[in-house]
Order: sequence, then C-alpha cells, then structure tokens
Amino acid sequence: MCGIVGVIGNTETTDILLNGLEKLEYRGYDSAGIYVNDQNGKDFLVKEVGKISQLRNAVGPDVQGITGIGHTRWATHGEPTVDNAHPHFSSDDRFYLVHNGVLTNFNEIKSEYLSDVQFRSETDTEVAVQLISKFANEGLSAEDAFRKALGIIEGSYAFGLVDTQEPDKIFVAKSKSPLLIGLGDGFNVICSDAMAMLDRTNKFVEIHDGEVVILEKDKVSISKLDGTPVEREYYTVDIDANDISKGTYDTFMLKEIDEQPVVMRKISSHYLDGNKVNVDPALINELKEADRLYIIAAGTSYHAGLAGKEIFEKLCDIPVDVEVASEFGYHMPKLSKKPFFLFLSQSGETADSRQVLVKVNELGLPSLTMTNVPNSTLSREANYTMELLAGPEIAVASTKAYTANIAVEAVLAKALGEAKGIQAAIDLDLKAQLAMAANGIQTIIDEKSLFEGIARDYLTDKRDAFYIGRGVDYALSLEAALKLKEISYIHSEGFAAGELKHGTISLIEKDTPVFAFISDKIGQDHTRGNIKEVEARGAKVLRIVSSDFAQEGDQIVLPEIDQMISPLISVVPAQLIAYYASLQRGNNVDQPRNLAKSVTVE
Ligand code: AGP
Repeated sequence: MCGIVGVIGNTETTDILLNGLEKLEYRGYDSAGIYVNDQNGKDFLVKEVGKISQLRNAVGPDVQGITGIGHTRWATHGEPTVDNAHPHFSSDDRFYLVHNGVLTNFNEIKSEYLSDVQFRSETDTEVAVQLISKFANEGLSAEDAFRKALGIIEGSYAFGLVDTQEPDKIFVAKSKSPLLIGLGDGFNVICSDAMAMLDRTNKFVEIHDGEVVILEKDKVSISKLDGTPVEREYYTVDIDANDISKGTYDTFMLKEIDEQPVVMRKISSHYLDGNKVNVDPALINELKEADRLYIIAAGTSYHAGLAGKEIFEKLCDIPVDVEVASEFGYHMPKLSKKPFFLFLSQSGETADSRQVLVKVNELGLPSLTMTNVPNSTLSREANYTMELLAGPEIAVASTKAYTANIAVEAVLAKALGEAKGIQAAIDLDLKAQLAMAANGIQTIIDEKSLFEGIARDYLTDKRDAFYIGRGVDYALSLEAALKLKEISYIHSEGFAAGELKHGTISLIEKDTPVFAFISDKIGQDHTRGNIKEVEARGAKVLRIVSSDFAQEGDQIVLPEIDQMISPLISVVPAQLIAYYASLQRGNNVDQPRNLAKSVTVE
C-alpha cells in the first residue's frame, strides 16, 4: 500500500528519499514521486508511473535539496497516472502533500469548500492539499491551516506536507494509517515503516492518531489537534540491515521460505525454557477468565488463525471463533459473556483488523496482538503483544510469518492449557515438536528441485488448480491456494475435500491439478475416497501425506510431527510449488500485481 518518506535538514535528501522509497517497494505500488526543496527558492517535483527505478531515471542530477517528501502510490481513487501520483500540490504551487489512506468525505469537502478549484487529479489527496491552501490564503498560518483542514477531513490518513514559504519544516499528521518519525544526527525523517530509514537511523518516535507533528532538522514538536503539547520518548529498532536485503537470493520469497527452520528455533528458544513456557502471566490470567476466544485476521494470518483454532480448542478447552476482520467489525455477532480477542497480523498495520480492535477497545474487551512488528499500531493498541520473531518479511506472499504465527499460537495454547491444568497441554513437548518442525521444514526445502518439477508438470498452461483436505488440512488448503493464486495468477481454490462433490467437482476435467493433503487422522480414508472421485473425472492428483498415513504411490511423504501443528511442515511444499509456478510464468514473485504487503485501507 502507499508508502511515505520525508527528510529535513540533510543535503542527501534526494538519495534518502529514493533509497527509502525502494525499501518501501515491498508494500506494493504502481506510481511514485518525490518533491525536493533546497530551502533557497528552488524546488523540484518528479513523478512517474511504474517502478522506483523509472523514477530514479527521471530524477536529474540537479534535483538536490535539504527538505523533501516522497511517496509510492497504490491506486485507490483514479488510475495509476502521473497526475494521480503524489506528491500533490495546491493550485498556487505553495503546498506539496503526500498521503497514505483514504479520505471518506472528499466529495463533500470539494462541494462545500472547493467548488471554484480546478483539480488536476482524481485523487482524494488533492482535495486535502487544496483545502489547506484555501485556509492559508484566507490568512491562516500554514500550521493553523493544516490543523483546520485536519479538523474537517474524515477517513484514514498519514500526511507529510511542505509549505514552500516555510521549507525548513515538514508538517505531519496521522489517523489510522501508519507513520513514524526517525531521529537522525542533525536531520530528521518520516517514514511509513522503519525499514525505509534503517540505514540512516535506528531511533524512532511513534505518532498517535489525531496528533500533529512539526518536524525541523533538529526539533520534533508533537501536539494534539487542539495544540496541547505531547512528550514522547524514542525507541530503538534492532533490525540488522542484512535482514532486509536479499543477500545471495534472487527473491525475498525464497529467502523467507528458507528462513523458516531458523524462525522455529528462535521461537522455541525465546518462548520455551525446556518445557516451561515464558508468556506474560497477566495475559494468561486474563485468558483463563475468557469463555470464548475470537481470532481476528485477514488473508494468510486468517488462515494461521484457522490452524490455531484446533490447537487452542484441544490444549485449552476453550471454544474458538476465527473471523475475517473486514466482515467481523461491521457485522459483529452476538458475543459470548467473557470474550477475549486475539489479533493476528504480520504487519500489525492491517486496516481491516485495526477497525475491529478499535471497536473491541471501545467495548473495553481484552485483546492480544500476535505480530511480527513490535510497535506497530495493532501491537500498541491491544492490551498484550506476542512477537512472531520471524524477522522482516518483505515478499508480499507471506510464508515465514504464517508458520511463525502457528508456532506462537501453540506456545500460547500450551501456556494457557497448562495454567488450566489440561493434560494434553501438560503432555505436549512443544520444544521437541518445534525442533521436529525445524528439521522437517529443512528436509523439504533441501528438495527444492522436486517442487520445481512438480510446478512444471502440474501447472504449466493450467488455468485452475485445487487444494483439498479435511480438518487441519482444510485450513491448510485455503492457505496453499491463496499462495498459489496470489503470485502465479492461476485460479486456485482450497476446498474441504468432502465438499467438492456438492458442486465444485463439476470443474474437474482431464488433467485439472488437484493437490491433496493427508495429515488428518480421522479424515484420511474419506479424503482418499474424494481423491478417487476426482481421479475418476480426469484430475491429475498430487498426494502430500504425513509419514504416519503414507501409502504406496503417495508422491510426497512429509516428515513426522504432531498432527495439530502439521501445517508448519505441510505448508512448505505449497509455498515452493507457488514460488516455482510464479517464477516459471515470468511473474514478479515478490511484488505480484495489484497486491500490497501492508494493507492499510479498508
Ligand atoms: C498473504 O500472502 C497476503 N499477502 C495477505 O493475505 C496478508 O496475509 C494479509 O493482507 C494480512 O496481512 P497482515 O498479516 O499483515 O495483517
């Protein structure tokens, strides 16, 4: 989704902006631009459709300054064109603005305040910059005009604004969309994600919703919208710059798939001391009181929640509802008497999940966020946070965050189950299981060429593909299908194996690829029956089977692990098949079309 960078007080402004935008490329975008001001009367605006490399080519050597803002745009209002790309500027060329988010009342603002303005773009953002300019032209200072506009604007936003009359400042504000301040030595920056500026600073300051920040080269002034000053300490981000580079890999996705054994070991050593689980006792006490666990998430994180349901229900004896965030917030079911909310989000910024958390907080209900990004919005706003410890995940297709999420759910379930005295939780040797997961994943990723061949054999020239399974394998099938469709663009569906015959089987024709998972003890015989049904109609079936249930002729036999957490291993063939199918089609594996890594609009 849109990414913002900004810098004040540094002669390398253009480089900082372009490098920062490159680091934000993973978020997904279709156009980009920068505005640079030399604080001496000269300024430059460069915008391009396409990649940052195209923007870089368009930026001439004369584009230098000490104040600047930059933006990657993921189109919402209007197509990806140069006019619609940010930064946007006011008709009098005085104000330049970058924006992440969606302004919901921009049409009303247009007709109420800006009926005489000739707009250059179709964006909601231009409305904001024209509104600020209007108020400034009526006599307000830039800061007061900005504050007045913020009081009118509705929706989500992270803004970076430069006034050409005061180019030694960047005016900043946020509501619902992410934005951070970074503290440099003699200069300061803003960014949507700390990763954009880690080569310049590791000191960051949060901005909370409804706050306004005036950024100068050696000063950060934070206040509420009404002007009340706010004091806030910085925090340091300890991410190694190597973690956000591809290293020797061609793609982040393959690097991240390969990192999964290390992530399993990291989770184990962080959360497990022998068989003792290290989880905040206050969290466990609060969870013990709950009569139902509501897991809220989107996409792959939702699928990790579906896998987690079985773990929590078995180990903690608590009913679990797993809900798609974008649906749940606006169609909230009747809640149980003592609900507890678990938010799963790799990025910690997903707007769909966040709107649910806002409602949960309004209701005064307890919550925990499991996230890969500490200090993210969902982490800050929930009562508790558990870190996924997967390290930065850059590829749009989530891989190591999915397995990390299931492992951390298992950690929490064991801690809670033990606290409730449930024998299954006490008996589970999770340390040993995570070690088995790490080794099992390694065994699969050591066989990459096998999956490269499967992708070629099964998916070349194919339009459709199906993943099927029962129980835990059904949850896994949904994730496997999402992985395949999002990066290969092959239409793929995950199905409960038993449900195929109720309609979808009509789509099976000669050589339709069907990938069948068999790790579920109770369902295995029935799944094999369903495989026969699709084979009888011409499907080309690949059986991916846990070693416990393997039979002669099964093509992929998976290393041993407790069935409950079997997706930790069984998802890896699906990740690799998706990866190679995408590569073989010549797609951009890390940045698939139309998608964004951090989905900050609803
Ligand atoms: C997965 O590969 C996707 N890119 C996507 O479904 C993602 O999981 C979803 O947008 C949720 O993101 P989050 O975990 O950061 O909240």
